[in-house]
Amino acid sequence: MERIVLEGGRRLNGRVKVSGSKNASLPIMAACLLVDGPCDIENVPRVKDLQTMCQMLRLLGATAEYQGQILHIDPAKFSDQIAPYELVKTMRASIYVLAPLLARFGNARVALPGGCAIGLRPIDQHLKGLKCMGAEVVMEHGYIHAHAPHGLQGAEIYLDVVSVGATVNIMLAAALAKGKTIVEHAACEPEIIHLAGFLNALGAKVQGAGTSRIVIEGVTHLSPVPHRIIPDRIEAGTLAIAAAITRGDIIIDDFPMEDLTALERKFVEAGIVIEPVDRNSVRVYRKDENLASVDIVTQPFPGFPTDLQAQWMALMCFAPGRAVITETIWENRFMHVAELKRMGADIQIEGNSAMVKGGRVLSGAPVMASDLRASAALILAGLMAEGETRVSRIYHLDRGYEHLEQKLAALGAKIRREPDPGI
Ligand code: EPZ
Repeated sequence: MERIVLEGGRRLNGRVKVSGSKNASLPIMAACLLVDGPCDIENVPRVKDLQTMCQMLRLLGATAEYQGQILHIDPAKFSDQIAPYELVKTMRASIYVLAPLLARFGNARVALPGGCAIGLRPIDQHLKGLKCMGAEVVMEHGYIHAHAPHGLQGAEIYLDVVSVGATVNIMLAAALAKGKTIVEHAACEPEIIHLAGFLNALGAKVQGAGTSRIVIEGVTHLSPVPHRIIPDRIEAGTLAIAAAITRGDIIIDDFPMEDLTALERKFVEAGIVIEPVDRNSVRVYRKDENLASVDIVTQPFPGFPTDLQAQWMALMCFAPGRAVITETIWENRFMHVAELKRMGADIQIEGNSAMVKGGRVLSGAPVMASDLRASAALILAGLMAEGETRVSRIYHLDRGYEHLEQKLAALGAKIRREPDPGI
């Protein structure tokens, strides 16, 4: 195993480019299984979760190979109908292959994803949607067995909770279903709009993505097109917070400003400037020496993203005053709190809120990453802590950030990756 070792106290300076989005790539890779030919997908970041998705596509018979910067996916030999537990347990978004399997073969066996560090993560809404479309679903031996003997039919589906994953699975199922599907209370995340754009470019008929009502008119086939993945809004936000924490002044290229409005507004409240320098780049720096304490509540898009909650908490540790951070999406997403406290942070958890009394000097310490975004938060805190911070279990970081430590090092951080002798 490896760990990240960093020495705090360096202001970040320079220019950095955001990688392609992990969470936008996953649905696009699954959608490739629906296409009548190979697709070339550009800007897919080289992160572990996407390697796992490539492995899943290959297990199902498809080709998924990087050719330079392009991921080439060919579903010509897509034939296997079982998504095994061994892969699903390592990456829950494997559930995205459920809809393509049903759409192509009328039959699927996909391991039921369990919970994960951040919450129970049920998939009842995915299954509700597919059942409305005519699928028969049985749970057996830890697997979802789904059949649609007469093919999938368009349906009117109301989601009881706003779910990105359920919206994705239903869109994938509906693209080739017979008739019209209407999804009410759909997720509005940029990754959903991006998926709709890809499906429409392939010949699907999807309208309303980005609103809570998505209408999909099924078509009989989808034709291949090349595609480019959007920049990763969570990585972009993480880099911007890194600049703010270190009193740095950086330019971030490929910054998806429209996808980060909530963060931008909170930056203004905290006294952080984020200004466009050209169409896709922004400059980030602090307006004043001190940060203001700013509360956040995580919400589905366009609310403040849960995937930036831990990073915001790291930032608030350096803001004199009290910030209340409320997590409404995941029931167990405060595991970074205990680790930040090991660095000297003053944080109390009450229910689904964390009160951060900021402005104390944090001291570097050995800490342990518990999930993807928690790893990023600990690195961010370490950037401004006194002395050395060692973040272990860094495999969590590698699931979704492409070379984060290299990017921070290029901006002037004293940070390196090394083998972890402790584990
Ligand atoms: C996606 O997860 C992201 N993952 C998550 O990012 C992100 O935190 C989350 O959306 C929320 O924005 C990917 O895109 C691969 P949901 P997803 O279904 O789709 C409940 C990261 O760090 N729910 O929108 O699994 C659920 O319990 C990851 O990159 C049901 O009750 O999230 C949660 O409270 C972590 N039933 C809420 O909905 C269901 O059937 C939102 O979950 C589905 C979800």
